Amino acid sequence: MHEPRKLYVKSFGCQMNVYDSHRMADTLAREGYVETQDPAEADLVILNTCHIREKAAEKVYSELGRLRKQKQEAGSDTMIAVAGCVAQAEGAEIMRRAPVVDVVVGPQSYHRLPELLAEAKAGKRVVDTEFPAEDKFDHLPAPTRAATRKRGPTAFVTVQEGCDKFCTFCVVPYTRGAEVSRPVTKILDEAARLLDQGVREITLIGQNVNAFHGEGPDGKVWTLARLMERLAQMEGLARLRYTTSHPRDMGDDLIAAHRDLPQLMPYLHLPVQSGSDRILAAMNRKHGRDLFLSLIEKMRGVRPDLALSSDFIVGFPGETDRDFEDTLDLVREVGFASAYSFKYSARPGTPAADHEAQVSEEVKTERLAELQKLLEASKSAFDAACRGRTFDILLEKPGRQPGQLIGRSPYLQSVVVNDPPVGIGELLTVTITDVGPNSLAGVTAETPPSPVLSRPLAAMEA
Ligand code: 5AD
Ligand code: SF4
Repeated sequence: MHEPRKLYVKSFGCQMNVYDSHRMADTLAREGYVETQDPAEADLVILNTCHIREKAAEKVYSELGRLRKQKQEAGSDTMIAVAGCVAQAEGAEIMRRAPVVDVVVGPQSYHRLPELLAEAKAGKRVVDTEFPAEDKFDHLPAPTRAATRKRGPTAFVTVQEGCDKFCTFCVVPYTRGAEVSRPVTKILDEAARLLDQGVREITLIGQNVNAFHGEGPDGKVWTLARLMERLAQMEGLARLRYTTSHPRDMGDDLIAAHRDLPQLMPYLHLPVQSGSDRILAAMNRKHGRDLFLSLIEKMRGVRPDLALSSDFIVGFPGETDRDFEDTLDLVREVGFASAYSFKYSARPGTPAADHEAQVSEEVKTERLAELQKLLEASKSAFDAACRGRTFDILLEKPGRQPGQLIGRSPYLQSVVVNDPPVGIGELLTVTITDVGPNSLAGVTAETPPSPVLSRPLAAMEA
């Protein structure tokens, strides 16, 4: 018998890439590949790349440099494939800059990987960055029970890809293409299979997930809210999440779903990018500061325990001190439970990249530090407000010490519990006893869950 071939997949960037990496591994499992965590012993290495900021994109080339050295030193014939958004955006350049690469494959062509690898084996370097007419999801095999078990009780399901919003800083509409929603029946089938394999929490993902408008079994267009209502009726589904959303697509039915669906976690990632109306307009976000704030008011009205996370960009072209103050001010007003923040990175081909009023690196660095300090304080205040509260956690994996398990709170905080009465994949009601910088600790609760009110920072200042 042959030794199984070994596959090493490294994912950069967003959750969509994590999902896609799993789908590629599932596809190659059929071809006899088993996954390894060690690139040195792999017969095939796939880098699943991210193009969102320059730093992310450049990582690919340093990673490829490392792989080339490793290959030379070991005299190995490891195949190397580059997938994801850098592959899509600069396939030809990768081939030119990195002769070590055998295959470049864009996100819409993952189902063709076996053919592409066969061509590469025959000595051809191949690039496939088409947007093919056929639906890749029809050709990507589902994970086996063993693969799902290994990935744990939470899973992503892609419901939508691409973006039609064209924010002026963003490469996504170019790398992932126009918005396409998957048909409802296919999503339900995928979810049913995952639940049958032991998954308890599903996160619906898409670049613009709340713009979902998939064809329903009744031939009508279904919204994300309608899809989730149907999913919430499925046996075994304990928790539901969705990410990433755009403020303009937070429909009333989606807000109502937060009130009506007990499985829908009271935690929303809603990128705002800036608190300045001027900058929001220049970013082509299609909404102002007031719309964002009033949305949050509405959402908190239906779900008082809702917590928020967001994305911010500092140093967008033309951003003044005053604009930046508006961003800080919005952060203070909302009191985010967590957030991601970035320096603006000019991306080739996007409208803002050619803007004359680029902000200096120095100013970007200063603003980012100041914003992150405030966001950190906001997060700490939220975490601190969880002490003494009781909520359900979903146990996901073993902790460092014997007898410990780590679960996730409704707000995605890691919670460590000693000797829980139930195992991985179960919900456990815990009371939070300690709050650390990276995780919380809890004990099995005697009482039912008590909601955390989600505005600790604002409350502190009031
Ligand atoms: N520069 C900096 N940050 C960016 N993002 C997207 N494009 C850029 C860019 N050109 C950030 C946004 C988005 C997150 C995924 O990445 O905040 O919400
Ligand atoms: Fe990019 Fe999101 Fe804007 Fe779409 S909505 S262009 S993905 S930032």
